[in-house]
Order: sequence, then structure tokens, then C-alpha cells
Amino acid sequence: MYSVPKLEDYSPASLDKAAAELLSALEAESQAAADAKAFEEFRNRWMARKNGILSQINDMWLKPAPGPSKRDVGQRVNALKTAAEERINAAQSRAAGSANDAKLKAETVDISLPGILRPLGVKHPVLRVLDELIDVFVKMGYSVAEGPEVETDYYNFEALNFPPNHPARDTQDTLFISGQEKRAQRDRLLLRTHTSPVQIRSMERLKPPVRVICPGKVFRNDAPDATHSPMFHQIEGLCVDTNITFGDLKGTLEHAMHSLFGSSVKTSFRPSFFPFTEPSVEVSISCPFCGGKGCRPCKQSGWIELLGAGMVDPNVFGFVNYDAQKLSGFAFGMGVERLAMMKYDVDDIQQFFYGDMRFLEQFA
Ligand code: PHE
Repeated sequence: MYSVPKLEDYSPASLDKAAAELLSALEAESQAAADAKAFEEFRNRWMARKNGILSQINDMWLKPAPGPSKRDVGQRVNALKTAAEERINAAQSRAAGSANDAKLKAETVDISLPGILRPLGVKHPVLRVLDELIDVFVKMGYSVAEGPEVETDYYNFEALNFPPNHPARDTQDTLFISGQEKRAQRDRLLLRTHTSPVQIRSMERLKPPVRVICPGKVFRNDAPDATHSPMFHQIEGLCVDTNITFGDLKGTLEHAMHSLFGSSVKTSFRPSFFPFTEPSVEVSISCPFCGGKGCRPCKQSGWIELLGAGMVDPNVFGFVNYDAQKLSGFAFGMGVERLAMMKYDVDDIQQFFYGDMRFLEQFA
């Protein structure tokens, strides 16, 4: 490795020779510095203030120079140091440049390669009908409310005017949470059998007037078959204000059915019973497939039963401290899978839960 020689004399020829040797040694060492660490060592060896080669030439060449040649030697040493520093700096930026080139090269994206195909999902048909219906009601000024799927006996039954042991409870085969015997009946937990408890929760939370739509999962101890499933979806509606009449209920539901199935469907209201509405009705629409003539989906009757509804029973207002003298309202509840079956002519409710792509892809 290069080390600074003692000068034999201070003649221009020997100074030139020493300078040329130093520069060529510098060039060789800079070429040999293969990586950043080696380059750093090389740079220190040459440029360090203390004992770097460039400061050694001051001590070894300039200081001992005899008086008459001092000036000449001084100028040469300075020029040589400047030249050496320039070369070191140039070598350094070359090294940095090639590191950058390597980095860029490694990061190159070949834009001619084919892309990754990510298939777009679509909404499940049940969710699609649910969202469509929510949209219809939101446009009429309803807001969306949700409640828990694990409910208490109080909200699912008692506050909806199903007294304990009332036979109306048997119309909904309920799944109870086990190990609740020690609790008071009203606090016992169950899987909600309908979305109607959200009516109570909404009235507890809001001052009248109230207009809410409550979508969600409900559960019943029904064996699965073509029209039953232990889990399905309902959408509930509740409207409470002064002067709400049965006419408002009819108009609202007719509008919703027209939005969902087209304006040519007719609605029909027949008396029914629910503990929390009085009077209560079953609502049917004229069959959207045959227009009422009779076909397979409507079982030749021309009508399809779609939902339950009625005027809120004054007893229910009593449970939420609403003034039944001043207020009136209507409520309705419908099965979303049933609506989807009608809308898309699906003859088996289980299709919605199998996850079979051949079925689901038809909604893409
Ligand atoms: N909750 C009732 C059911 O599940 C439906 C309903 C809702 C009826 C609101 C009247 C009013 O059968």
C-alpha cells in the first residue's frame, strides 16, 4: 500500500514524479474500494486531518523544504492536495451514483406484465333487498335503528304486550339461552324472534315523533326446509306521531311495495292478530310473476303474503311512557329472505345460506 516517501531532492522533476506517483496510487486505491465501508476507509486514509496522507505531505515534503524552494514546494503541495481531493470527491459521487442505479434497477416495475385480476364481489341478494328497502324508507324520512340479537324476555315479549305465559308466545318457537333459571323472567336472555324489540328500544331512546326502520337477524327454533330457516332477516318499521292513521300505514306500505316490485302490484290487507298492534293485518301483494292470474310462485292464488303490520297497541305506549291519549302509530315487520325469494323467483330459502357460487354468481 502507498506510503508517502521522503523526497530525495526538491527539483521540479522529482516533485513532479512524487506527485504523479501519489495520484496514481490514489486512483488505484479508489478503484479497489468495493463497497461503502471500504470507500469510507479509503477516504479517511487519505483525507483524515490527523495523519491522513494529504496532511502527511505537508509534514514530509513542505516542512523540510529548504528556504529557497519553500514557495515552489508550497504551491505544488497545495495544487496536489486540491487535485487529490477533487478525485476523491469525484470517486465518491461515482460510487453513490452506482448505488442509486442499483437501487433503481432493483425497484423497476415491468409495466408490460399482465396485472393481478381481483374479481369484484357483489352484495348478497338478501343484503341487496334489505338495502333497497332501507333506501325506500330513508327517502320517506325514516332513520335506521339496530338492536341486540341476544335479547331479554322483556324486550322480545313483555313490553310488546305478550304477558308471561300468554299463548301468543307459542307462535314464535323461541331459542332460549340456557342456565337462566335464577333470573327473573323478564331478564332471561333469548335469541330475538323478531325485530320488534327494536321498536321498544327506539321509543325508549327517542321522543315522538318517531320514524325508524330496523333491519337485522332473527332466530326461531324452526327446522330448515324450503321456506324455513332457524336464522333469517327481518326489517321492522315504526312510525309514531299525533294523528297517524291506518290510512298512513296503507299508503306507506303500498309505496314500499311499488318501489320494490313495480307500480303495477296491488296490495291487500286482511285482519290478523299480533299482541302489540290493534288492529293487526296481514299484507299481501298481487303476484308480480303472473299479475294475479295464478302461477307456481303464488301457488295459483294470484296473491303473495308478505308481511305483518298494524296500529301500535296503546298498551305498548304504556311500557315506554308515551301518552296513548295523544299519540298513535303504526308498525310493520317483514321477512327479507321472503321478499328476496319473490323478487328473484328463488324457490328454496336455503339457497341464500349454502354459499354456492353457482347460485350467488347469478346476482353479479
Ligand atoms: N314481529 C312480527 C313477526 O315477526 C311482525 C310484525 C311487526 C307485526 C310489526 C306487526 C307489527 O311476525
